[in-house]
Amino acid sequence: MKVQARIKNSTPVSRSGRFANGPGADVANFSESISFDWRLWRHDILGSIAHASMLHKIGLLKTTELKAIIRGLERISVEIEAGQFIWRPELEDVHMNIEAELTRRVSAGAKLHTGRSRNDQVALDMRLWVRDEVGQIQTELRALQRSLVDFGSRSEGVLIPGYTHLQRAQPVYFAHHLLAYVEMLDRDASRFRDGLNRLNVCPLGNGAIAGSTLPLDREFVARQLGFVDGRGRPLVTQNSMDGVSDRDFMIEFCATAALTAVHLSRLAEDVILWASSEFDFIRIADAYTTGSSLMPQKKNPDIAELTRGKSGRVIGNLMALLTLLKGLPMTYNRDLQEDKERVFDSADTIRACLRLTAAMLNHTTVNTTACRLAADDPQLLATDLVDYLVRKGVPFRKAHHVVGAAVALAEKLNLSLNELSPTDLKGLDRHFGADAGNIFNLDAAMKRRNIVGAPGTKQVRRQLVRWQKRLQ
Ligand code: ARG
Repeated sequence: MKVQARIKNSTPVSRSGRFANGPGADVANFSESISFDWRLWRHDILGSIAHASMLHKIGLLKTTELKAIIRGLERISVEIEAGQFIWRPELEDVHMNIEAELTRRVSAGAKLHTGRSRNDQVALDMRLWVRDEVGQIQTELRALQRSLVDFGSRSEGVLIPGYTHLQRAQPVYFAHHLLAYVEMLDRDASRFRDGLNRLNVCPLGNGAIAGSTLPLDREFVARQLGFVDGRGRPLVTQNSMDGVSDRDFMIEFCATAALTAVHLSRLAEDVILWASSEFDFIRIADAYTTGSSLMPQKKNPDIAELTRGKSGRVIGNLMALLTLLKGLPMTYNRDLQEDKERVFDSADTIRACLRLTAAMLNHTTVNTTACRLAADDPQLLATDLVDYLVRKGVPFRKAHHVVGAAVALAEKLNLSLNELSPTDLKGLDRHFGADAGNIFNLDAAMKRRNIVGAPGTKQVRRQLVRWQKRLQ
């Protein structure tokens, strides 16, 4: 849902006295957060309705007052959604803007802030906002996992070299490589979920720092806003000073986002390599690439490059938050206003990267011929030749050495490893039989990799089926 923010130019709070216009506007512009925290409006209003309902329950608001407040807030909601609400920077933030406008329209609005401070209010709004965002990110994560599994299924049977040190190592199914990212993203999803356990606790009632002398029913508010455990019991913060100044949940969120961004960046790097002429393993659809303004032949993998690049800002946001917090004395300090943009940016960036990466992969095909050519490199099966000797009883270290010598011999004779004659091999170790050459049959080699987690034919099939089921 896109809501447009209409923000007026700041007008000075006071027009009289020596500093009438200049510094007044300057200070307002420096201190305002409405230009970004207007995004919290929905959660701010939800929180206010829950708080007002509680004030009514404990006898601090009359029924008519509660009704007027709720009606007023609902009307403001509609106006914000329609982009008609005018945000005023001189009122600093989303909390003051909404409350001031409500009070202008509804006299009972002046009672809304009873027993509440912007300090616990903003802590609440951000918890609600991040909680919703985690839900959205989970959906995007699953969609990308699905794209990876689909791509793996579309290219089932395609082999590529697996790389270590970016040097050819051993053959793997292309799908196996993609499924590695499905696993990473699954851990990211579980980290986001896990963060909810600590985030989903209601801070309202902590006031500015020291709670309230009024008999606020915190559990009632918590229940209204879904701050409950698995058995529906309300969860409220247990220390008012911690409650107003805790930003752990934002840091956890940004840390998980940063790790997800790193995973996406690694995937992007693989895509970029694969799309190069040197690898040529994949073709990205034109719509997900860009040309060069100078070189007519160019087709650049910009989506992947930007995803790789944007990981930098998501990591940066985490660093900014940690730095923001580290020297703050208890409790609320205005510095904390700086937390929101970092959290918003991490959420926006990670969601865009997830969505675009999925879309790009849905429009990418594998180049079977180039993959086959690369995977046919017999050196990829040198380790299989070692295993052959191991099966004949040769100690692994010895077998490794013998095959090393075979590789060197092939190089010297300018032959491929699989072109060494049985006599050449026998000359290196008596355990080599006439059947040694069979090792280089790639399809048979893939059937042999049949333990859990290995890229064997059966195993990869099993994993694809497992993920297809899990992601239904
Ligand atoms: N806009 C403020 C923030 O984001 C809200 C809390 C203001 N509290 C205060 N004591 N000035 O942090």
